[in-house]
Amino acid sequence: MDLQCFLCWRVALLLLLSPCGLQCMSVHVINRQPVHVVPGSDLVLKARIEQGPLESISTLTWERELETGPDPKRVTLATNVGRSIRYVGTRPNIFVKVDEKETTLEIKAYSDEDSGVYILTVKDHKGANTSAQCIVRIYEPVHHVSVSINVSHSSLVCGEAWGTDPHFSWLHEQVAISSTVGTVSKDGTTLIVTKTPFCGHFTCMVSNKLGHSSATYTAAPCETGGRGTTAAVVCLIFLLLFGGVLAFLLWRRRRHSNRGERLHEHLDAI
Ligand SMILES: *[C@@H]1O[C@H](CO)[C@@H](O)[C@H](O)[C@H]1NC(C)=O
Repeated sequence: MDLQCFLCWRVALLLLLSPCGLQCMSVHVINRQPVHVVPGSDLVLKARIEQGPLESISTLTWERELETGPDPKRVTLATNVGRSIRYVGTRPNIFVKVDEKETTLEIKAYSDEDSGVYILTVKDHKGANTSAQCIVRIYEPVHHVSVSINVSHSSLVCGEAWGTDPHFSWLHEQVAISSTVGTVSKDGTTLIVTKTPFCGHFTCMVSNKLGHSSATYTAAPCETGGRGTTAAVVCLIFLLLFGGVLAFLLWRRRRHSNRGERLHEHLDAI
């Protein structure tokens, strides 16, 4: 086996072993999409770059365009200049790192204007482009919580407008829902009320990383039967006792004054 043939075999083996052969640069964003960023915090997007054994990156560009609207207006956020590995952000809060297998885009102090579709494009040494996209949105606080009743199914439905990642919980008279009051659906938005009679205040609380907001459905007031009777009995006993003491005091006073009169009469007689 001469040297040339040996090299041939080596290249063939490399092509067989590498999953994509010669022409297969691929990129994909690692972050779970869509990415939601709390205003003022940092956005970090990571993408994996896979390249064949004979490929190399000639340019790498991060761009952004609006997610909706007729004019997507693509802007360049960072790209490398010529063959240098220096990546130039178009604003001072944009940073890019690139190594053989990964690239990171970092935007410090994220604001609403940074939202959109982020596009990573990698051009190989032959000028072929490969790209990947990622939707990035701002993390919204909880908005407009409301509770509505579904009379036919004795359930209450909690609604929330556009907060990010809302988490629902329910209270009855300011206390967490117990099995005697009802059951909450898996997603938390519906409370099936099993308590009879259907009464009192039902509060739906919606929360996320930025805070919480709530709404209350007020049903007929609950009869506080047991407690009311006890209070009446206590009141009655108290009144009776008070009356008894008063009567006793009056009777004593009367006796004293009678004795005084008798004493006077006695003295007059002498
Ligand atoms: C009440 O709930 C049931 C079951 O979830 C649903 O099919 C029905 O459309 C609801 N009714 C109203 C008025 O929302």
